[in-house]
Amino acid sequence: MESHDIGTAPEHQPVPAGAAKKVFVKTYGCQMNVYDSQRMTDALAAEGYVATDAVEDADLVLLNTCHIREKAAEKVYSELGRIRDMKAERAETGRELLIGVAGCVAQAEGAEIIRRAPAVDLVIGPQTYHRLPDVLARVRGGQKIVETDYAIEDKFEHLPQPKRAEVAKRGVTAFLTVQEGCDKFCTFCVVPYTRGSEVSRPVAQIVAEAERLAEAGVREVTLLGQNVNAWHGEGENGGEWGLGRLLLRLAKIPGLARLRYTTSHPRDMDDELIAAHRDLPALMPYLHLPVQSGSDRILKAMNRRHTARDYLTLIDRIRAARGDIAMSGDFIVGFPGETDADFEATLKLVRNVSYASAFTFKYSPRPGTPGAEMDGHVSEAVKDERLQRLQALVNEQQQGFIAGMVGRTISTLIEKPGRRPGQKVGRSPWLQPVIVDDKAGGIGDIIDVRITKTGPNSLFAELA
Ligand code: SAH
Ligand code: SF4
Ligand code: F3S
Repeated sequence: MESHDIGTAPEHQPVPAGAAKKVFVKTYGCQMNVYDSQRMTDALAAEGYVATDAVEDADLVLLNTCHIREKAAEKVYSELGRIRDMKAERAETGRELLIGVAGCVAQAEGAEIIRRAPAVDLVIGPQTYHRLPDVLARVRGGQKIVETDYAIEDKFEHLPQPKRAEVAKRGVTAFLTVQEGCDKFCTFCVVPYTRGSEVSRPVAQIVAEAERLAEAGVREVTLLGQNVNAWHGEGENGGEWGLGRLLLRLAKIPGLARLRYTTSHPRDMDDELIAAHRDLPALMPYLHLPVQSGSDRILKAMNRRHTARDYLTLIDRIRAARGDIAMSGDFIVGFPGETDADFEATLKLVRNVSYASAFTFKYSPRPGTPGAEMDGHVSEAVKDERLQRLQALVNEQQQGFIAGMVGRTISTLIEKPGRRPGQKVGRSPWLQPVIVDDKAGGIGDIIDVRITKTGPNSLFAELA
């Protein structure tokens, strides 16, 4: 059942008219999965598959899964239960429905998925998406396939680029994965196991993809990586580049007006990257920099390899480089051994930094990670209580940040029509949706607007 051949993607055959099959892709987890789902959709389009939003129409259902917390991973099995029923009903009508599982659950659980959910036809890990057409061909031949080996060939070289019209349809903002995998091994985290070790895409590949995006009308690109600021590569004139240099290069591409990157690790924020925040107007003043905890004891147990002081000093340096930068972060409460005093240290750090937004999670023990084996697991009740207290603090800061925008003039990238007639929705430099009058500008325009009032997580504005 396992597949071990190292093949390259087959030549794409023209598809006979009327033969279009439909694929429904459901994406869980992080932005890298969003990007991967697009690339898989592009690979399938080259095979004649048309994407559909209606699962009932699909000939192929592909779940792009996330393994980060237990809840995320378990969601997949309940979804598979529903699709299995659909597949059984289909079988009676004679129309085939194939079921595929991709993403981090696929990588972590492999053949176990088919044992638990026998209706699944194929399991494919994130490193082998370029083989999807070939895997599908074999599945249609009646095999069940588990494809979770780390490929030696570069999947990005083999994945087809989307058509210009497809990029345009996806909007004026886009993701671009520049780095994959993680070598940090935080003791709570599955990513080093599901995504493998750190790999950086070459400069030329990234520049070419960014140029294609810009030519199709994309104005804002977010560079992605599990450890995006660990990205490094050989520069265009030789010499080693870090993410700061790459951002300077990408800012030169005509049409690309805004750049972002996520997610960063505090240990990889080097001087050049901090300087890019000072020197590069296109680099948006918003930084997601997870710290997880404010207690040095817990940070050590998490193998973060930085202290709370290191993190705070780093933020001081970043703010000195770019005064209007807004900070965002991730926090875990209830890591094994976390005492009330440790948790208080986290609250103190949050008060100290003042976040524009933050994601807060209850620790979820993950099979195979060192954290799961540690002593001192914290009870659900205590985790719940800490989560609530932390969320209350973070919400207060977020509301304060948004309230502080009223009366200010800010730049907004117009992204799409609003939900109400007569409105368009833009995006602020700090990622909030900005509601403006329809006539304020066209989609893709970057305009100055004055904030008149705020919603729970959005801004209302008039032309400045
Ligand atoms: N590469 C990123 C984060 C990837 S996972 C980084 O290093 O920051 C996104 C977030 O999920 C993490 O920042 C962490 O806060 C949370 N997370 C990861 N594993 C978790 C676990 N086992 N339980 C709870 N939250 C977890
Ligand atoms: Fe996970 Fe830590 Fe790597 Fe982030 S740096 S992906 S939290 S192991
Ligand atoms: Fe989830 Fe994998 Fe992303 S575990 S958070 S989908 S890297």
